Amino acid sequence: MCGIVGYVGRASAASVIISGLKRLEYRGYDSSGLAVLTDGGLATAKSAGKLANLEDLLRQRPLPGGSTAIGHTRWATHGGPTSANAHPHLDNAKRVAVVHNGIIENFAALRAELAERGHEMASETDTEVVAHLLAEHFAATGDLAEAMRGVCRRLDGAFTLVAVHADVPDTVVGARRDSPLVVGVGEGEYFLASDVAAFIAHTREAIELGQDQVVELRPGSVTVTDVHGEPAEVRPYTVDWDVSAAEKGGYDQFMLKEIAEQPKAVADTLRGRIDAEGNLTLDEIGLAAHVLREVDKIIVVACGTAFHAGLIARYAIERWTRVPCEVELASEFRYRHPIVDSRSLVVAISQSGETMDTLMALRHAREAGAKVLAICNTNGSTIPRESDAVLYTHAGPEVAVASTKAFLTQVVACYLVALHMGQARGTADTAWSGDVATVKRELLGMDKLLSQVVEAMEPVRELARSLRDKNTVLFLGRHLGYPVALEGALKLKELAYMHAEGFAAGELKHGPIALIEQDLPVVVIVPREDSPLHDKIVSNIQEIRARGARTIVVAEDGDKAVVPYADHLIRTPRTHSMLQPLIATVPLQVFACELATARGNEVDQPRNLAKSVTVE
Ligand code: F6R
Repeated sequence: MCGIVGYVGRASAASVIISGLKRLEYRGYDSSGLAVLTDGGLATAKSAGKLANLEDLLRQRPLPGGSTAIGHTRWATHGGPTSANAHPHLDNAKRVAVVHNGIIENFAALRAELAERGHEMASETDTEVVAHLLAEHFAATGDLAEAMRGVCRRLDGAFTLVAVHADVPDTVVGARRDSPLVVGVGEGEYFLASDVAAFIAHTREAIELGQDQVVELRPGSVTVTDVHGEPAEVRPYTVDWDVSAAEKGGYDQFMLKEIAEQPKAVADTLRGRIDAEGNLTLDEIGLAAHVLREVDKIIVVACGTAFHAGLIARYAIERWTRVPCEVELASEFRYRHPIVDSRSLVVAISQSGETMDTLMALRHAREAGAKVLAICNTNGSTIPRESDAVLYTHAGPEVAVASTKAFLTQVVACYLVALHMGQARGTADTAWSGDVATVKRELLGMDKLLSQVVEAMEPVRELARSLRDKNTVLFLGRHLGYPVALEGALKLKELAYMHAEGFAAGELKHGPIALIEQDLPVVVIVPREDSPLHDKIVSNIQEIRARGARTIVVAEDGDKAVVPYADHLIRTPRTHSMLQPLIATVPLQVFACELATARGNEVDQPRNLAKSVTVE
């Protein structure tokens, strides 16, 4: 939420900032702005709405040149998405400029205190107090980094802050608490950003900053301290993808590109973890076998799409480890005083590694003595940093706000964890679950099956376009098809802005069937023909069709039983029943993407949403 970029170097800072903000726009797109240090002064521009508006403004009124600057793209929390509330925010003398991501919880008290000292505020934001405090601390110390440390000590809440001061040329300072900030190290230039995507076109060398650290960038130096000024340890690393991964690559939308990348993302997530002989090696997660054997309870915490991956994980974990598994929305977890202790394993799933609800849940679990394993797509982000163990998904950067390839790779990572634990506990190869070898073999062939699915999506697109004027679509599934139904409904809500709901098909008769009316589209995920649930769901399809529903049936190749009851039939290749969610989700992603496009919506940046939800 909110994207931040800072730059110190030799290039035109305004253009570096704008191109960085373009790559961060997925984090928020309510308004944007930048501030450039000029010869002894500070020039700023801000605009409500998308970044394109700021670019228009800069074309009409270009800023004076400068090679040090900061910029911001906003997802509004305090104050509406107006130009006045857009960042950067300035002090009264207009010498300090600050951009911020997060929430300053004690801003009202600080604002009142500043007002008493004669400061006047120009916006409704919590951020503005930081600019005023920074001006005061700088006046007292004459050192911008020291001033930032002093301000951080006064703030409650979660924040990334980046600032410049007109009296301190060629210098950008930043700070982070519970919110991301990464340094990019280029040739004679440095960057500060919420995400490496902002500077990947310039450098792949990065430095991860830790909690409560303050950084000062000057030509030729990066200095990192804690908030008391003590030198801090940092971790330099090389980003393992390049700029092409963060570009559309010929697709109209990032989401389409990311759907098409799923076969590769799944193959990359499996690579080096299951070999051609079917041996599974997951020592990289760093949880000793005895720890895995002693675990007596597993709790998966996650939000949104990642939560749906967690729902699928439960089936795999209980099947292959025989350890009871709960799946909980991260935002609910700590508020019910969950029963967690040193024998619990909490699995936190997050694409971004920044989601505040998930972070708070894992902190709560660790305080209670549990071990936390993160499943994450973003190297060096906060959730894996604060976990006991981590398994990275290798989906590459996911830019579209709606998650697709991250979901499939999260599901794959959950299967790997379940199989690995089952192996350590000796439960994965019992007669009851003697399917492990088949699952591993089919996982290794999954990229090819997914490619077939991705290439056969034209009929799904056509169907989606034909439904553009509908108001409601329901999704039904059972067993592993149920989380798939929930995910299909979530994708449709967030992209097409339609009423969409997922139900466990067995629950239909207990209430939701009252929603069925003439020509209502209902998508049904059908399990394999040899599943004990297959015939039951075929009965469910008949029940809704008898009441007028227009049935859209997702069923495996060769399943003849569904044919008489399907108004529209989406065929998917056959796979092991545990792996079916990987295949069945793809048509639902395409369906939502195409329906949203047909309704004229912006698929990559749906209204009101931001990709990384860094506030609770
Ligand atoms: C939906 C979507 C969100 C995220 C959720 C968690 O398409 O993208 O529901 O899945 O906000 O985000 P991460 O995985 O970054 O923790």
